[in-house]
Amino acid sequence: MEIYIRPTADDASVVVADHIEAAIREADGDPVTLGLATGSSPIAAYDELARRHLDEGLSFANVTVFMLDEYVGLSPEHPQSYARFIREHLVEKVDLDPAKVFCPRGDTGDPVAEAARYDAAIKDAGGIDLQLLGVGATGHIGFNEPGTSLASRTHLVTLTPKTIADNSRFFDSKDDVPIHAISQGVGTIREARKLLLIATGENKAEAVRQTIEGGVSARWTSTALQLHEDATIVVDSSAASKLDYLDYYRFIDANRPEKK
Ligand code: F6R
Repeated sequence: MEIYIRPTADDASVVVADHIEAAIREADGDPVTLGLATGSSPIAAYDELARRHLDEGLSFANVTVFMLDEYVGLSPEHPQSYARFIREHLVEKVDLDPAKVFCPRGDTGDPVAEAARYDAAIKDAGGIDLQLLGVGATGHIGFNEPGTSLASRTHLVTLTPKTIADNSRFFDSKDDVPIHAISQGVGTIREARKLLLIATGENKAEAVRQTIEGGVSARWTSTALQLHEDATIVVDSSAASKLDYLDYYRFIDANRPEKK
């Protein structure tokens, strides 16, 4: 795993934007498929990418997007739906073609079938080149809560009460937060050719410690990153604060070999 520790969340977001920009530029006009996350963690990186689009001509014209997850019961127009989130935070600010931005349908009558359809759609599109991830305080990536198989495919999930409470800040009340979601599975996420996780703030410190230094287990599904051959984790100092080998990771960061 490559670990980047930056002083602030904004500094960490610049590193994330750098990796996403590199994936687009390295494709050199060929199609690129990004897997994108919602929530608070990636917002500053999306803002930075939108700035680079405006100021530096970074183009998303060849990019296809598959979102990580969606709440069951919410239509793509719902203010808290993840389909709307990505439209507002990125799609409408850059030259992404909305027809190439895919999200599970939360308002389907059959979420199990929708999950299977979505998983197949990712495969049919040739898989995901770079998957951006956040991590929940429970250790979830996507909405793969404790106890989820590390081989799981896109599936219907039940959120933990902790995640419902954490995400209630986006809703009028806790009772408005959907209990179920459709999420890419851990196995689906692991098939992406590159994983890029951002975590900031002290409330993520334990999840970050487990992700990087804990044993691989379904208790912390983010530990699946340890099994991926190209996983990058970007954190701010607060999120890094519980790492046993913090000084070593900083040492690596300061002496990063140039990649050819
Ligand atoms: C979002 C997602 C979740 C979030 C996680 C962290 O699409 O799948 O795993 O990344 O809940 O959320 P924030 O960034 O709001 O702390």
